[in-house]
Amino acid sequence: MQRIGVLTSGGDAPGMNAAIRAVVRKAVYHGIEVIGIKRGFAGFIEADMDPMHVGSVADIIHRGGTVLRTARSEEFTTRPGRASAFENVERFRLQGLVVIGGEGSFEGARMFHLEFGLPVVCIPGTIDNDIPGTENAIGFDTAVNNAVEAINKIRDTATSHERLFIVEVMGRNSGFIALEAGLAGGAESILIPELPFRVEDVCDRLMRGYRRGKLHSVIVVAEGAGSGIEIGREIKKITGFDTKVTVLGHLQRGGTPTAMDRVLGSRLGALAVELLMDGAKKLAVGVRHGRVGSWDLEECLQGKKLIDLQTYELAGILSI
Ligand code: F6P
Repeated sequence: MQRIGVLTSGGDAPGMNAAIRAVVRKAVYHGIEVIGIKRGFAGFIEADMDPMHVGSVADIIHRGGTVLRTARSEEFTTRPGRASAFENVERFRLQGLVVIGGEGSFEGARMFHLEFGLPVVCIPGTIDNDIPGTENAIGFDTAVNNAVEAINKIRDTATSHERLFIVEVMGRNSGFIALEAGLAGGAESILIPELPFRVEDVCDRLMRGYRRGKLHSVIVVAEGAGSGIEIGREIKKITGFDTKVTVLGHLQRGGTPTAMDRVLGSRLGALAVELLMDGAKKLAVGVRHGRVGSWDLEECLQGKKLIDLQTYELAGILSI
């Protein structure tokens, strides 16, 4: 193997830079050239591609975002879009591709491999942590820590004013960020799309807490479970509590990656290069039972990743 490409795609995730750094340095270590593809599959189609060297990834391991930049490409979801990208595979003489991104990016890589045969290895990078085949994705740990930091701050003001705060966190259609941030932040209730809830029940629980002497509460809502603003409005109407809503939004996605995300990005990036060198065709790397490994890409995309019910129940028991 002489030359591979690397790209980041979909929403950026803190720790992607560590993964890019690992791909480039591991490849260079083995005498393989790396072409950095900018703006994900969009840059792949447009030949927005440049060679990367050891120095291209200097001083980036601590930075959030992705130095390769990223995009969500509609065009790559079409056959002609992917065919244009394949012209650039030939033009740049790529023999393998590392894709760092979420489920949509994995799916794009899968289609691309099936149609054109280019070996691909996908690295999970999404704050949502919703890729079925892996316990952890790069960026999740940082996003959870960002959310917890915000919840801590909100709790200070919630306590001082004896208020109810609703904190809406990201996660698209999944509740992984909400569950972990809610548990770590001591939230009174955690509302996630995977488990249906009634606002009336949330209010009953709140009232019970207040009757026992609670002076303030924090409820964490995953964006996929409903709008924090709407839920806050309903709760205020039912309980009459002074209710404030904070939507954390993209704050969760930015900032310096945690050590955990940097280590994960480094391990997965290096593993992706090793696998391409060993003749991988279409694999995804990830974490299972706490260990880094690789699995068939199709298998990693199957089904929907399930929330850990025991953790959810625990959060409920601990927050009474
Ligand atoms: O997939 C990551 C994510 O941050 C989701 O949690 C969120 O729903 C979405 O991306 C936001 O997308 P955008 O940055 O395009 O607004």
